[in-house]
Amino acid sequence: MFGRKSWTATAAGLCAIGCISWAQETTSSVVDGVYTEAQAMRGAASFQQSCAICHGPSLGGVGEAPALVGAQIIGDFNGLTVGDLFERIRTTMPLNNPSGLTRDEYAAILAFMLKSNGYKAGPRDLYSRTEFLNTMRFEPPAAAAP
Ligand code: HEC
Repeated sequence: MFGRKSWTATAAGLCAIGCISWAQETTSSVVDGVYTEAQAMRGAASFQQSCAICHGPSLGGVGEAPALVGAQIIGDFNGLTVGDLFERIRTTMPLNNPSGLTRDEYAAILAFMLKSNGYKAGPRDLYSRTEFLNTMRFEPPAAAAP
């Protein structure tokens, strides 16, 4: 009744529907605890090496290089995805060496930026695959507990 061929076709058809809608939906949020403390620590070291010279050691911005903490950066990416921010950094930064770091290094630096902006850590490292990060909504950090 179910020939091998029709079964394969059905499975592929289900995946085509399920996998595409999965990839396009933002199923989680940056406020859900999407990086680990250890990853942010690694990112802090890479940030000091590759980014601090322009953006400042405390991410406050220097001259042309904008602050990477606070209302401006959060506003710039509010409503987009973590993948958008990751790709912005990966493809254009460091300004003098775009795409010069590994995906893991960019993910760790992004984890450090999230921590610096008051997002909470969680049990798993931030992914370094853009297609996963695209499923994560970017929005302001949850207000600190009173
Ligand atoms: C040589 C100086 C320089 C270095 C090094 C550098 N940046 Fe930048 N960055 C800039 C400048 C200037 C801008 C604003 C102009 C632009 O967007 O190209 C910017 C913009 C940005 C933005 C966009 C901010 C916003 O609000 O939209 C992000 C995010 C960013 N940088 C992250 C990083 C990270 C992370 C690193 C390290 C991997 C880094 N930058 C290294 C100079 C630098």
